Amino acid sequence: MIIEPRMRGFICLTAHPEGCAQNVKNQIEYVKSKGAINGPKKVLVIGASTGFGLASRITSAYGSNAATIGVFFEKAPSEGKTASPGWYNTAAFEKEAHAAGLYAKSINGDAFSKEIKQKTIDLIKADLGQIDLVIYSLASPVRKHPETEVLHRSTLKPIGSTYTNKTVDFHTGNITNISIEPATDDDIANTIAVMGGEDWTMWIEALKAENLLAEGATTVAYSYIGPALTEPVYRKGTIGRAKDDLEATAFKIADQLKDINGKAFVSVNKALVTQASSAIPVIPLYISLLYKIMKEEGIHEGTIEQIQRLYAERLYTGAEVLVDEKGRIRIDDLEMREDVQAKVAKLWEEATTETLPAIGDLPGYRSDFLSLFGFEVDQVDYQKETNEMVKIEGLVD
Ligand code: NAI
Repeated sequence: MIIEPRMRGFICLTAHPEGCAQNVKNQIEYVKSKGAINGPKKVLVIGASTGFGLASRITSAYGSNAATIGVFFEKAPSEGKTASPGWYNTAAFEKEAHAAGLYAKSINGDAFSKEIKQKTIDLIKADLGQIDLVIYSLASPVRKHPETEVLHRSTLKPIGSTYTNKTVDFHTGNITNISIEPATDDDIANTIAVMGGEDWTMWIEALKAENLLAEGATTVAYSYIGPALTEPVYRKGTIGRAKDDLEATAFKIADQLKDINGKAFVSVNKALVTQASSAIPVIPLYISLLYKIMKEEGIHEGTIEQIQRLYAERLYTGAEVLVDEKGRIRIDDLEMREDVQAKVAKLWEEATTETLPAIGDLPGYRSDFLSLFGFEVDQVDYQKETNEMVKIEGLVD
């Protein structure tokens, strides 16, 4: 079929297999171009199909020749209906990895459930024995609690008072004011249940109970901080509470891993266009101003540059891992540079529908967004008949 983007709000309903495959190839080439990393050899990535998790899987495989197991929740294709992008990304990754002689298998299902944890445990036992790195990179709006069966929904709300600020519709470039009502206590608790540290702990406890974590194993989850101007809706809002919980969980897990000399970290990453971040009000405008500045300064990075740097310059340098005063790895250092933030804050004041084309990088935002779904990717012929029924070679039933 000929596959075109079909937008609905901040999601795209279609995905292009060839475009997704080209994105994966580009990421692989980037990691290879940066040279070998003395990194992990057997890696489990939870949330492995898009965004930072996919970049982690690619960096593990192509930076240090690691065998990888990826867990994710993606929609398979059906005749005339494309899969979700993470499906095509994974199909392309596995094809490349297998051709390069690298072990790669995948599990598609709800990572919050007991069933998917058990399936992963069985696969590790059968194929890899023990894991030396567990990346936790889930971004989900909902979680069915495995014990209580309650369905928790996360929200993106301020806490305490209504938050009003500018936001952009990144399809039209229209800037309007948005007001978001404050969260209830239930909203806060639900968001912590979905995006906090409980499920990360459950994964590590389940793996450890089966002796599947190697001596010295490391686990890393991803967090975000961002600037003062997004604080009310991000870091001091419901999602920020969940990130506080995730960050506190790293210390608890580190304690649990002491007997095997294991380590647990949270890495604070840069704001980037992913399916998860495009759904957050205010953030797309911030990102389009940030991109403009970071590109002008020559310090712009995407997910693969971020994660390659996380491995090569933080986790696997051979020296003690560099952390901030709260024990977090910071690869948002370039985003948070004072001069960068001062420039973004100034542009924020100036940003209107009329000024944005000149002062922001909305084209960069849009093109990154479309590229998440495999569209507007260089070297892809979008006029060509494309087979949507792509299989993931190493998908475990
Ligand atoms: P993403 O939307 O690109 O990826 C989410 C991944 O989670 C996908 O592989 C998806 O299949 C998987 N997933 C979602 N629900 C699942 C479920 N129930 N079971 C199994 N897999 C499931 O998101 P992104 O942006 O890469 O986020 C990953 C982490 O990075 C999150 O913790 C996010 O808060 C954090 N982060 C994101 C930043 C950004 O600007 N995008 C910045 C800093 C941190």
